[in-house]
Amino acid sequence: MAVKRKMKWQDYFPGCFKPEAPARGKKKPVAKQTSFPRISMSDFSSSTVLSEDLSISLAGSNLHVFTLQELKVITQNFSSSNFLGEGGFGPVHKGFVDDKLRPGLKAQPVAVKLLDLDGGQGHREWLTEVIFLGQLRHAHLVKLIGYCCEEEHRLLVYEYMPRGSLENQLFRRFSVSLPWPTRMKIALGAAKGLAFLHEAEKPVIYRDFKASNILLDSDYTAKLSDFGLAKDGPEGDDTHVSTRVMGTQGYAAPEYVMTGHLTAASDVYSFGVVLLELLTGRKSVDKTRPSREQNLAEWARALLKNPRKLGRVMDPRLEGQYSEAGAQKAAALAYQCLSHRPKLRPMMSEVIEVLEPLQDSDGNQIGTFVFVSTDSDSQREISSNGEKHKETKKENHRKPAAKSPKSPLTFAEMNSPLHHRMRRA
Ligand SMILES: Nc1ncnc2c1ncn2[C@@H]1O[C@H](COP(=O)(O)OP(=O)(O)OP(=O)(O)O)[C@@H](O)[C@H]1O
Ligand SMILES: [Mg+2]
Repeated sequence: MAVKRKMKWQDYFPGCFKPEAPARGKKKPVAKQTSFPRISMSDFSSSTVLSEDLSISLAGSNLHVFTLQELKVITQNFSSSNFLGEGGFGPVHKGFVDDKLRPGLKAQPVAVKLLDLDGGQGHREWLTEVIFLGQLRHAHLVKLIGYCCEEEHRLLVYEYMPRGSLENQLFRRFSVSLPWPTRMKIALGAAKGLAFLHEAEKPVIYRDFKASNILLDSDYTAKLSDFGLAKDGPEGDDTHVSTRVMGTQGYAAPEYVMTGHLTAASDVYSFGVVLLELLTGRKSVDKTRPSREQNLAEWARALLKNPRKLGRVMDPRLEGQYSEAGAQKAAALAYQCLSHRPKLRPMMSEVIEVLEPLQDSDGNQIGTFVFVSTDSDSQREISSNGEKHKETKKENHRKPAAKSPKSPLTFAEMNSPLHHRMRRA
């Protein structure tokens, strides 16, 4: 009988210990593309410390292992002119790869995310991202091309998304207002990404569904990014996964914030919040508004119940350029997703069924582009479950380079919006 050698952590992440470029002419993906069962996070130790016994396999993932030096070269030493933005993980820079870097590697722009070693996230979030995104491939999930793990440095290399995040497109000051059909296209694309995760053989709960994690391709195809908080769904007879409360204020489902019980329905609630953001053009949390309007879901739910009040909810920047019937259906869908009873929320497959016909309904022609101004928000702390979660996000002082052809560089692009992620207790 063949003896199966116990695989070590280094076997799967060789770049972490011997950072070296592969010999020219040799392809160096992690493993060959084969059919394989997805490895879940529970397959390895919950310790955040590097473990030699980490029995994980990324067979079939086809990820490239890059050296830090290579990523420095392709981003021009992480130059400010290549800076795209910054989240809780660290700064993101644009770069360019081609087959000179790795034979067979498609010539393409990439986004390189660098772990901020002084930030609130670390190896665990990086590993979660590599394990989930390395194995999950779908038209509505951003593609992970490779990673770098050298000493304490952790980087992720993604396909470049030319229109940046939905958050930037929807809320950026002086930005062009997204027309209604584009908003519905984004909602459908993001719903398809979430449905794929929920309906996978081993379901995944995304846990951080929000406008900043929805990235947009040149034709506004939406792709989900940021799997650092993703969780494997409940198995067997379990109805939920118990976790520490993490996610983002304003998007997290109330029952999850109260109990830490995570289900796919928590993601559906967050989807409802993003759908509301698309309908209203308002942020999930906006401290600059009167207190009863600051939490978008709480404010809008009461109005969504009554179709005659729809006009009060819809984004004025749409200037009425949307299908009334389509907007009614989208508003009713948002209301259902935001139900306080998780069981009453629809499945993501049902969400898709509702959104699909809204793509071509009357009045869905591209509307006028309008330049608008939105307010900036400020750093804050939130409290849930009696615990304080200080947001770890840094204000962004560098110049984002994600610039759509229709949106000239503005002052607002110098300061990408802040998000408010709840951290581990
Ligand atoms: N693949 C990509 N292509 C183009 N731009 C990207 C890509 N990934 C990230 N960005 C840009 O980098 C910025 C930071 O992204 P990141 O996911 O690190 O943080 P975030 O989503 O803004 O915040 P959070 O840490 O709360 O998720 C985003 O504003 C986005 O526009
Ligand atoms: Mg993000």
